[in-house]
Amino acid sequence: MTDIHSHILYDMDDGPESFGDSLKMCETAAEYGIDKIITTSHLTSPGMIDAFIKKRGSRLERLREEVSARRIGLELFHGAEVYVDDDIFYAKGLEKVTLNDSRYLLVEFDFKSLGANRLIRYIEEIFKMGLVPIVAHPERYRYLQSDYGIVNYLVDMDVLFQINAGSLASLGGREEFELAHQMALNNAASFIATDSHSHHGRSNDLLRMVRYFPPDIRRESLDYMLYDSPQAVLDDRPVPRIVRRRIVRKKRKGWA
Ligand SMILES: [Fe+2]
Repeated sequence: MTDIHSHILYDMDDGPESFGDSLKMCETAAEYGIDKIITTSHLTSPGMIDAFIKKRGSRLERLREEVSARRIGLELFHGAEVYVDDDIFYAKGLEKVTLNDSRYLLVEFDFKSLGANRLIRYIEEIFKMGLVPIVAHPERYRYLQSDYGIVNYLVDMDVLFQINAGSLASLGGREEFELAHQMALNNAASFIATDSHSHHGRSNDLLRMVRYFPPDIRRESLDYMLYDSPQAVLDDRPVPRIVRRRIVRKKRKGWA
């Protein structure tokens, strides 16, 4: 499997602090079915792109060498998880921090207070740059949990989504699980990834998490999200065409 979202590089962000911790995460990944990882450390400001790339390059090179020396069956590629705010309107050079130099940009936004209008304007700006946004862990945003209509709107704009394996394995909250589940069931999500930050906590034991996914997600959908779409990103091809259905929020007892 290919993990397109992983904070596996040490001393870059809130991921592993040491080289040894990164290496342990590589071992866990390989042990639990991951053979390719796109490293996606946080890029918090477009003004830091060049410094980010330089630092990422040295960390990645050292890790690749050790992974190869230890014969861990894992390929590492470069990428970033880009935090998008109003700076996007003036940002230059984002094409330098796409996933494996493809057209795909992994993005995240403010978790609490961003409105739908602003979110859509950011997305439009990314498309204008000739890039394709992949929204990381949509299921973790409150404003998407409470309004699935925004997700459907973004799907209609051809925005791609990556859900976290941990959300689908019920390791997060209930709202998080339900949105991730709906998106996986209806092919609204194109990727499942770990978003791992350490070898404990949010880890990358993907094969183990897959066992806890709800059984009603079809095998073809899992293949689409875990193999086919990630490979298209690595190859800089369009993700496979698949019918993406609308998602519906379940009504709960006691709701008006
Ligand atoms: Fe992340």
